[in-house]
Amino acid sequence: MNRSEPSPLPAGRLRDPAELPGPGGLPLIGMLHRWKGAQAHRILEGWAATYGPIYRVRLGPQPIVVISEPNAMLTVLRERPQGFRRHFAVRPVFREMGLDGLFSAEGDDWRRQRPLVMKALDPAHLKRFFPVIVTATERLHARWLASAASGTQIDVRADLTRYTVDVTCSLAFGTDVATLTRDDPDPLQQHLDRIFNGIARRLNSFWPTWRWLPSRADREIDRSLRVVGQAVQGFIDHARAEMQARPILKTEPEHLLHALLAANDAQRLSDAELHGNVMTLLLAGEDTTSNTIAWAMHLLSGHPDILKAARTEAIEALAGEADGPASSPVLRSIDSTRGLPLIEGIVLEALRLKPVAPLNMFTAVEPIELLGTRIAPRTLVCILKRPPATDPSHFAKPDAFMPQRWLAGEADASGQGSASVESVGGGGRRAFMPFGGGPRFCPGRYLALLEAKMVLATTLAAFDLIATPEAVEEQMGMTMQPDGLRMLLRAHRPSRFTERNRQV
Ligand code: HEM
Repeated sequence: MNRSEPSPLPAGRLRDPAELPGPGGLPLIGMLHRWKGAQAHRILEGWAATYGPIYRVRLGPQPIVVISEPNAMLTVLRERPQGFRRHFAVRPVFREMGLDGLFSAEGDDWRRQRPLVMKALDPAHLKRFFPVIVTATERLHARWLASAASGTQIDVRADLTRYTVDVTCSLAFGTDVATLTRDDPDPLQQHLDRIFNGIARRLNSFWPTWRWLPSRADREIDRSLRVVGQAVQGFIDHARAEMQARPILKTEPEHLLHALLAANDAQRLSDAELHGNVMTLLLAGEDTTSNTIAWAMHLLSGHPDILKAARTEAIEALAGEADGPASSPVLRSIDSTRGLPLIEGIVLEALRLKPVAPLNMFTAVEPIELLGTRIAPRTLVCILKRPPATDPSHFAKPDAFMPQRWLAGEADASGQGSASVESVGGGGRRAFMPFGGGPRFCPGRYLALLEAKMVLATTLAAFDLIATPEAVEEQMGMTMQPDGLRMLLRAHRPSRFTERNRQV
């Protein structure tokens, strides 16, 4: 990427954001006439390529400082909650939609809620609830076996969203909603989609028209919020009944909802925060993970050699389990998922090339310096994830899909040498932040990686992925999704190698 550097400053002098380079624009509206919400990330990345690692753009009345230099991005992420907060519109929009939970909380509210959610998603909890992920993966596999047998194209994103909704509801709320076993179209998923689009539209609106003059679409969003809210109330009622029957769950919660209800009983969490966090988890755990797996499958369909190597890895992991693949097409032990380094590399590479959260917006709370620029309180700051993750100074052959760059001992491929996102060294680690960073980094990261590895191992061991001729486009809503992605699955004909493994 050919990016200009910001012009040098005399020693000691800080630049004002008004002095930054940027695309200019028209009076009052700035560059709003060039803005397309569905291509927001692409437009901002294009300007970063022209104007460099820090630039200024006006979209409506408010200027935004856009940053794609890793150290400055990390400063923004780390200086929270005191130095930066999420975009000032996030909390009011989430609150009026009944979604105000960990993602939108700020200051002391955030400090109080964070440990509750972190604990429910930590590796020990995931280990205990691993059978839930196994069940969901078996259901997804059965669904895709049926599609492969009938030669029907699969709607990759829709099926994967059922998967992530099922996992999140079972693991975090103790309720098996089993959307994977239902017929099309699934109502819960449709309502969640509508809410997602509604949040994205409202956060990107420059005037809150839905408050003054709600359109039909706004009324439909409200209806979806009511329907999902009722489902959430069902989860809450179910968990409360369990806790009444087994009071030990108050001190030894089995899932997030038990922990939230115990905090609610102890008046450490309000009713609105309880409801808001259930909704937050449902939304945060859905599209992010399903779109990441969908992007990985899309990238793999164009790289048959990598797919073949990953299949070998998956089949070996299945064969290595005590009762072997003949009895289950799905890994049944969480320990086996650690033996999937290439598949993990595929997920990380999908996150590098197709980050589902390609930009994050923040509001400065305290004055701070970023790349020689004076950032005053209330300044809007946007960080872009993809430019540094596809910069040749951080990753060799940055535009190539090379999952092997994440493997230990592959220092030449990446210039970094690493086994996983934890251990990727030097500039690469700092330049790769698909899950955010600092004290608010994504608490669902381990779960997301586990879900992705389980789906990919099962699917690659069993099927060839055949892309359809339709174009797949990046489309930005709340997350960046592969629009138009459909696929044919063809049951894989085992080679002599796999036959041998089946007999192990
Ligand atoms: C590939 C999948 C995922 C990606 C790429 C992703 C990405 C992100 C990002 C970029 C943030 C903002 C972090 C920051 O501000 O520094 C975030 C926050 C969050 N994520 Fe995820 N996420 C994923 C999956 C999940 C899952 C599975 C869950 C839970 C079920 C989850 C729950 C959350 C929550 C609750 C927050 C708010 C944390 C806070 O503000 O303290 N995410 N995620």
